[in-house]
Amino acid sequence: MKDGREVLSNVVYTQIPLHRPYGGVVPEIASRAHVEKIGQVAGEAIERFGGKIDMVAVTYGPGLSPALIVGINAAKGLAKSLGVPLAGINHIEGHLHTPFLYDPGDDEIAPGPSEIGPALGLVVSGGNTVWIDMPEYCRYEVIGETLDDAAGEAFDKAAKLLGLGYPGGLKIDRMSAEYVAKAGRADLIPFPKGRPREGVSALAGLPAEMCVSFSGLKTALLRYVQKNPLPESQDDAAAELARIVASYQEAIVRALADVTRTALRRKRYKTFVLGGGVSLNSRVREVLSSVCAEAGARILMAKPKYTGDNGAMIAGLAHFRQNHVEDAMSLDAKPSLQVGE
Ligand code: KG4
Repeated sequence: MKDGREVLSNVVYTQIPLHRPYGGVVPEIASRAHVEKIGQVAGEAIERFGGKIDMVAVTYGPGLSPALIVGINAAKGLAKSLGVPLAGINHIEGHLHTPFLYDPGDDEIAPGPSEIGPALGLVVSGGNTVWIDMPEYCRYEVIGETLDDAAGEAFDKAAKLLGLGYPGGLKIDRMSAEYVAKAGRADLIPFPKGRPREGVSALAGLPAEMCVSFSGLKTALLRYVQKNPLPESQDDAAAELARIVASYQEAIVRALADVTRTALRRKRYKTFVLGGGVSLNSRVREVLSSVCAEAGARILMAKPKYTGDNGAMIAGLAHFRQNHVEDAMSLDAKPSLQVGE
């Protein structure tokens, strides 16, 4: 990364095919694959870049401890051998940096972190759904959360239930877009949108209006498919499956839109920053863009290739976060690291 924004070299090795047979991430498989691949991936990134390295950055939480430890140990070795500082970066905060990344030669570049003013952040990924108040860049306070599953998990669990494969978010996105292009939204099934039930006390003192909850929605989907078997004809069954999928996606998107709208009403924000794997979803992008337009906030979203986990967001944020550790060897994994800690 150059100056925290220009991506000079970004190498991603995805483990998805290894976890696909199990329908979710298996921690032991994840850490073993990290150990096996990290040298090759880091080596390739350094080789493609070919310049002088001033700092090494690594995510130290939140996440699965065995996987974090592999990354931290490799980064310590690299920082020590290069004689440069090591920065420990929060994975969730990293996702919020993705809209600021650009490639050499890009003409359209988002405003820089120092120009965004008071900003509302939303990270929607496989492990997190969290709204973050940023009075200025790199100052974070969590103001909204999911009470149970993350949005990506809600997509993936539905995909598993409906036999669509893992991970299911992208497939659900595509099937829904095709369905809506043909049939519109008039016949969508009114699944309960993913909001906490009345009277449910919210997490960690967060008000219910700032929370989502996808467990009831998942149960509603299960009940629906149990009660309404798919039609016999293959064409009818495919159309009905697409209708179910598009309806389920709509319920998730409406919940994300509700909480975002509430947050934008509670405080005046100049910018809305969206990150995480689910931020690739075309309906999420469309609906949140219109919520922001209504509220007069500018929306910043990552290029599709930077929405999923990547190293560029970690190294990029390190430039702005300025929290490198003097003694590289003292950095430890923090599986429950809090945003802003
Ligand atoms: O950020 P990410 O790569 O990994 C972490 O969880 O940190 O996010 C992965 C998640 C998966 O749950 C995947 O199903 C979801 O992002 N996802 C999508 C789409 N693309 C990926 N969900 C909805 N629509 C998509 N287009």
